[in-house]
Amino acid sequence: MQADTVQAIAWCDDHIRILDQTLLPAQEVYIESRDLETVADAIRRLAVRGAPAIGIAAAMALAFEARKVQAATIEECIAALLPVYELLRSTRPTAVNLQWALDRMMAKARAAGAASVDGLKSILVAEALAIHAEDIENNLAMGRFGQEVVPQNATIMTICNAGALATGGHGTALGVIRTAAGSGKNINVVACETRPLLQGARLTAWELTAYGIPFKLITDGMAAFYMKKHRVSLVITGADRIAANGDSANKIGTYSLAVLARQHGVPFYIAAPRSTVDPAIANGDAIPIEERAADEVTGFGGILTAPVGTPVWNPSFDVTPAGLIDGIITDRGLVRPPYEANLKKIFMH
Ligand code: MRU
Repeated sequence: MQADTVQAIAWCDDHIRILDQTLLPAQEVYIESRDLETVADAIRRLAVRGAPAIGIAAAMALAFEARKVQAATIEECIAALLPVYELLRSTRPTAVNLQWALDRMMAKARAAGAASVDGLKSILVAEALAIHAEDIENNLAMGRFGQEVVPQNATIMTICNAGALATGGHGTALGVIRTAAGSGKNINVVACETRPLLQGARLTAWELTAYGIPFKLITDGMAAFYMKKHRVSLVITGADRIAANGDSANKIGTYSLAVLARQHGVPFYIAAPRSTVDPAIANGDAIPIEERAADEVTGFGGILTAPVGTPVWNPSFDVTPAGLIDGIITDRGLVRPPYEANLKKIFMH
């Protein structure tokens, strides 16, 4: 696959096309969804994943379902969409982009002032496509703003996958890396494999290979020793939800990287669009953390790696305290501490 055609999700009018990320890198298989449950299931089992990408998928699914509604009035049509909204919202709890995209769709439906039910349906399709297009624009903006913290000859450590696969396109953390490499900086990436579902090994390594950006894959447990033995210029990760005080939820293992970065004097940055910031949540303690099935930890690809019945704790995300974050690269610029005050500013214009 060519680098510029990596597309996690696409609106194809008579279906929604989802690249099944559970099968990468072995197979590139596309799901053609024509019903709500197929999209909901794809989000739950991480066929489509990454905070912005699941928001886009949910917005498209809501628009697709809206087109099927038989309603005499706009109010009836909106009422018929409420269970669709609820079902999609319940698929994954941590990434606020999902809720944000669905709320934006429903707010648009209520405020659109459509002349007819058919008009409302067209407005909702256009809104889902706008959410997708704006996400790509926001990622490109983050890529540009992020250059302020990326020196020439940088070695950048990252975790999970925050690339084109996790977004509408280009990526957040990986987008900053791609923009740096594209602008002629000599960039090396250290990709943490990301236990237990290997988004770093399967997806980030796949994307970096496609883009021709040099990288090394390490297991998560190697990060500390890598920082001790080799030069790491900075760490950049994505985020699933950023509280008003800057505490940031991201893939499990991110908090460890932030602690290690502080110990080794390596700057630690988050790259995320405004749709990942949740001003309604005061701090990280209030961020809902998804816990996933035990079998993700006790086995992989159908092979047992722990005895049957092994007790497991499997939080999908952790929360990095704001005090360990040197800056948050947003689509409105680089935000430095104090986050409480400075995150508010990116919503002002
Ligand atoms: O469980 P996942 O694969 O959806 O987790 C994804 C992450 O943690 C990403 O870093 C985050 O969503 C940002 S993606 C641009």
